[in-house]
Amino acid sequence: MIKVAIVGCGTMGNVHAKGYVNIKNAKVTAVCDIRKEKGMAISELLDAKYYESYDEMLKEDVDIVDICLPTYMHKEFALKAMELGKHVFCEKPIALSVEDAEEMVNKAKEMKVKLSVGHVVRFFPAYKNAVNLVKQGKIGTPKLIRTTRNGAYPGWSWENWYSNYELSGGPLLDLVIHDIDWIISNFGDVQRVYAKSFNGKVERKDHCLVTLTLKNGSLAHVEGSWAYPDGAIFGTTFEVIGTTGQIESDSRSSSPIKKYTNNGAFNMALDSPLQYKDEPYTAELQEFINAVIEEREPLITGEAAIKAIKVSLAAIKSSKTGEAVEL
Ligand SMILES: NC(=O)c1ccc[n+]([C@@H]2O[C@H](COP(=O)([O-])OP(=O)(O)OC[C@H]3O[C@@H](n4cnc5c(N)ncnc54)[C@H](O)[C@@H]3O)[C@@H](O)[C@H]2O)c1
Repeated sequence: MIKVAIVGCGTMGNVHAKGYVNIKNAKVTAVCDIRKEKGMAISELLDAKYYESYDEMLKEDVDIVDICLPTYMHKEFALKAMELGKHVFCEKPIALSVEDAEEMVNKAKEMKVKLSVGHVVRFFPAYKNAVNLVKQGKIGTPKLIRTTRNGAYPGWSWENWYSNYELSGGPLLDLVIHDIDWIISNFGDVQRVYAKSFNGKVERKDHCLVTLTLKNGSLAHVEGSWAYPDGAIFGTTFEVIGTTGQIESDSRSSSPIKKYTNNGAFNMALDSPLQYKDEPYTAELQEFINAVIEEREPLITGEAAIKAIKVSLAAIKSSKTGEAVEL
C-alpha cells in the first residue's frame, strides 16, 4: 500500500482528499495545514494523522507528498520532500518561474523520485474523448482550437493569496494554464504568444485572452475569466476545428448536477455523476500512484509542466508590453 501525505488542506486539499477515498492502492496517512480546523476535517475523513508543522509531518514514513499549497510555496515544499526521497505530486502551476520549476525537476532526477503536476484537464472525460476522436481522424487535421474557462474570482483562498499576482501569477498563470497544457500536449508546441488582460489592475476582477500560434501552423484562442459575478457558475468550453469537421463541448450544458450555496454557485467535477474512475481528480492521482508502483514516468511530467508555464509567462509578458512573444 502506497502511503500519501497531503500538505495544504484548503480547496484543492479537499478535492484530492475526496479522490483518495476511492483509490484502493494508496492510503493517506498524514495531512498538514497551519489551520487546524482545515487539517482536522481531512484527517477525520481519511483517518490520517494531522500535523500543524510540515517538517514534523515529513518525519512520517510516506511514499508520496501531495502538495496542495498556494503556488508560491510549491518549490520550497517540493524540494524538502524530494530531498528526503519522497515522490511529489504538485498542484498546477508547477511554480512561478521557469528557474524554480527547473530546480524541482532537477531535484527529482537527482533524488531518483517521481514528480508530477496536476494538469487535470487531460483527465476530464469530454477533453479526453475529444482528443481520442481527433486521433482517430474524425475531423481531419486540427487547425483551430478555442477554449474558454470562465468564472468568478477565487474568493475562497487562504489570506486571499490569489489577488497578489506575485504569489499566484493571476489568471494567465493560474487559470488558463489548464487549457495551455491541454493544447500543447495534444495539438503541438507553441511558437508565438499574444495576450491581453487587466493585469490585476481591477480588484478581484480579471479577464484574459491569449492567441497562440503553434509550431505546426495551427492557431489557438484561449480565454479565461475571474471577472464573473460571485454567483456565476464556473464553466469551460472548447472547440476543435479540423480540415473535415469540428468537435465541441460546453461544461455548463453537459454537467447535469449543479450546486448552489449561500456563497455563490459553484460546480466542481466532484458534483458530477461520473463513476469514480472517470472523476478527473481521482484519475490524475490514481495515474501518479500507478506510475510510482510501476516505476515508470508519470503521464504528466515536470518537463511538460515547464512547457506550460513558459507559455503562460510569455502571455503575461505580452499582456504587459502589448507585443507578441516568440518562444
Ligand atoms: N487543479 C485545479 O483544478 C485547481 C483548482 C484550484 C486551485 N489549484 C491550485 O492548487 C493550489 C492550492 O490552491 P487552493 O485554491 O487549494 O488554495 P487555498 O488557499 O484554498 O488552500 C491553501 C491551503 O494551504 C494552507 N497553508 C498555507 N501555508 C501553509 C503551510 N506553511 N503549511 C501547511 N499548510 C499551509 C492554508 O491554510 C490553506 O488551507 C494552487 O497552486 C492552485 O493554483 C488547482
